[in-house]
Amino acid sequence: MKAVQLTGYEGLKSLKVVEIQKPRPKPTEILIAVKAAGINFAESELLDGKYRVPKTPPFTMGFEAAGIVEEVGSEVGRIQPGDKVTGIVSSGGYAEYATAEASLAIPIPGGISFAEASTIPIQGLSAYALLKFAAKPQPSESILVQAAAGGVGLYLVQLAKILGAKTVIALAGSPEKVNLVEDLGADFAVNYAESNWVEQVRTATQGTGVDIVLEAASGEIGAQSFKLLAPFGRVVIYGARNVHDTFGPDRLQQLIYNNQSAIGFNIPSLRPEQIGACVPELLRLISDGRVRLFASHSYPLVEVRQAFEALRSRHTIGRVFLTP
Ligand SMILES: NC(=O)c1ccc[n+]([C@@H]2O[C@H](COP(=O)([O-])OP(=O)(O)OC[C@H]3O[C@@H](n4cnc5c(N)ncnc54)[C@H](OP(=O)(O)O)[C@@H]3O)[C@@H](O)[C@H]2O)c1
Repeated sequence: MKAVQLTGYEGLKSLKVVEIQKPRPKPTEILIAVKAAGINFAESELLDGKYRVPKTPPFTMGFEAAGIVEEVGSEVGRIQPGDKVTGIVSSGGYAEYATAEASLAIPIPGGISFAEASTIPIQGLSAYALLKFAAKPQPSESILVQAAAGGVGLYLVQLAKILGAKTVIALAGSPEKVNLVEDLGADFAVNYAESNWVEQVRTATQGTGVDIVLEAASGEIGAQSFKLLAPFGRVVIYGARNVHDTFGPDRLQQLIYNNQSAIGFNIPSLRPEQIGACVPELLRLISDGRVRLFASHSYPLVEVRQAFEALRSRHTIGRVFLTP
């Protein structure tokens, strides 16, 4: 079968399309014929050696995949060949076939495409769990979402009020993205390519700042967002690309003097029962049409480098995915 392997940590050139053996499911696993494999921001960092996985190259890339179950292991009960599923995979999702622990497979709701379903396991569940277990917005609180038109960001914008926030402030990098997140319910959206975006947000909060900052961008956007935190506010750090930059001594001092707090979030570190509690709630919101899914940037496996270039260009909206 065709697969995309990572052969080192030297950026895009370390991605190679190769012919390898189709994986075989273990007794507790299923074999999925992959129809859409999502590309995650962390996988872009992985190419540059900035996000490590406990594997030594070469290995097949891809944390997740959506597709049709082709075979089930001898101990698998609830899933049958022919079922449509999406989930975290064990063998690498950027391939024609992938194996996955059956317990991690999520049945795809009716009316949802494979591409749309590929947003659920990491982007959707990270957003839902981040709000439920880390940010815990209260009915009077405002919440700031960075990269709001990205994969996780679009979920956050739609879920923040459902999970308790009063006001959603969205940051995104183009007028098209700003319009979309406003349509999805953001109370105030601003293009942070504009030089005065910080003043715009401060004005929108009547000068008080925001109660919760969801920190994914780091760098200057992260620094300015941090300054927008209201007294007793909290920042949830879930996409730190450079922890020292995101969380140096000045920030600690700001937290102390303003009675603020910082909370980390990492979906792989959640307990299985915590993830399990989020799945039915998120699927219900999707099935009810209260959460819309965005997956229109499709690339064949052989164009994997172009797919990463698109993600890195900051021009994409929602999910970028591969179609084997
Ligand atoms: N902690 C966890 O468990 C967890 C789980 C999933 C994802 N994450 C994090 O959540 C964030 C979003 O992930 P995602 O997979 O949904 O990606 P994504 O948001 O789809 O990524 C693409 C968008 O990110 C924005 N962006 C911000 N800084 C960027 C940069 N330096 N280079 C390129 N794009 C940048 C761009 O939008 P604008 O130009 O509009 O800003 C871009 O269009 C990432 O930081 C990721 O690491 C964390």
